[in-house]
Amino acid sequence: MATEPRTGRRLAEPSRRLEAVPAYMFAELERRIAEKRAAGVDMISLGIGDPDQPTFPHIVEAMQDAVADPSNHRYPSNRGREEFRRAFADFYAERFGVTVDPDSEVIPALGAKECIYNLCFAFLDPGDAALASDPGYPVYTGGPALAGADAELMPLRSELGFAPDLDAIPPDVLERARLLFLNYPNNPTGAVVPDGLFERAVELAREREILVVHDNAYSETTYDGYVAPSFLATPGAKEVGVEVFSLSKGYNMTGWRCAAILGNAEAISSYWRLKTNVDSGMFEALQLAGAAALAGPRGPIEEMNAVYARRRDLLVQALREIGVDVAPPKGTIYVWAPVPSGHTSASFAELVLEEAAVVVSPGSMYGPSGEGFFRISLTTPDERITEAVTRLREHLAAGAS
Ligand SMILES: Cc1ncc(COP(=O)(O)O)c(C=O)c1O
Repeated sequence: MATEPRTGRRLAEPSRRLEAVPAYMFAELERRIAEKRAAGVDMISLGIGDPDQPTFPHIVEAMQDAVADPSNHRYPSNRGREEFRRAFADFYAERFGVTVDPDSEVIPALGAKECIYNLCFAFLDPGDAALASDPGYPVYTGGPALAGADAELMPLRSELGFAPDLDAIPPDVLERARLLFLNYPNNPTGAVVPDGLFERAVELAREREILVVHDNAYSETTYDGYVAPSFLATPGAKEVGVEVFSLSKGYNMTGWRCAAILGNAEAISSYWRLKTNVDSGMFEALQLAGAAALAGPRGPIEEMNAVYARRRDLLVQALREIGVDVAPPKGTIYVWAPVPSGHTSASFAELVLEEAAVVVSPGSMYGPSGEGFFRISLTTPDERITEAVTRLREHLAAGAS
């Protein structure tokens, strides 16, 4: 990154760091949808992964009680309330068989997005690199750029089950790498972790002194009997890595901004040090509601997963009927599918938008290796999914085959 002072700068001119990062990708898609809706088009958005169902009632009730208690109204501590940290430790023990010390190995995060971004500031200097999956969640590339460092892309290889080939990372990149981002079940591909990937990541991290950051945004959203593991259950993982666990998707809590970072105590301590300078912690009522979510019944999660599985099957069948060959994902709220031949990601998304008034995300939005794919989110009510499926069949059967 250039360090010379800029000449002729304008008021409100963004920093070079900010200019290096494109506007968050969904902003443009939202603009297009709003434009069409204003013109009277009945758009169905299967773009963004934001659960359409409400947060489970026991969590809302815990929040209502906590919010009515004035002792929760003051500044929280960045370390988090004991109830929150202990609830995470108990949940990790029971759900994943992972032991976490609630005093030193877990602290709250205001959503996984914030956490990933701030980890970049805690661990990357200019000249350093973060290893980011391609395609991948955009903060793995935007975060390093904003921190003045580089994101080095690791193509996810479909023949490896959408894993990166960690042994193919060039030595000079490994030399600069300080962070390795992984995410399984995976956005956008819907892949679950391939055998041996977490183990190889631990080895590599040990060999090269790289901190592994596993983004566990989707472990509770799985299908067909698949149970997703925690990265921290991998032998040696806590020595080399952290996991970010978000309640956003699995508990229908995207608006609440509730997550935690768990694992390596030294890394968590650095993250905490950064956070004490950046924000003032998580609303204590939210911490208590988050604890209630983790300790609560699993029935609502299973019911949600049954809803997503039904939508997934509807979509997969419709896509197959219009000539798109797609495998049903075992996890996440996304179907990742190849575009029909003759199309790019962008041209197919455009066709679907114009012809069927259905929004899908072009795979290229998630990185160069996403080209040739598109992503559909399952977070739209059943009747709208059914309508979208009807439109896809009607409008695209001829053009796509
Ligand atoms: C892989 C991944 N990580 C993190 C997030 C954001 O999670 P949160 O709502 O906790 O910030 C998302 C949301 O789409 C995601 O797909």
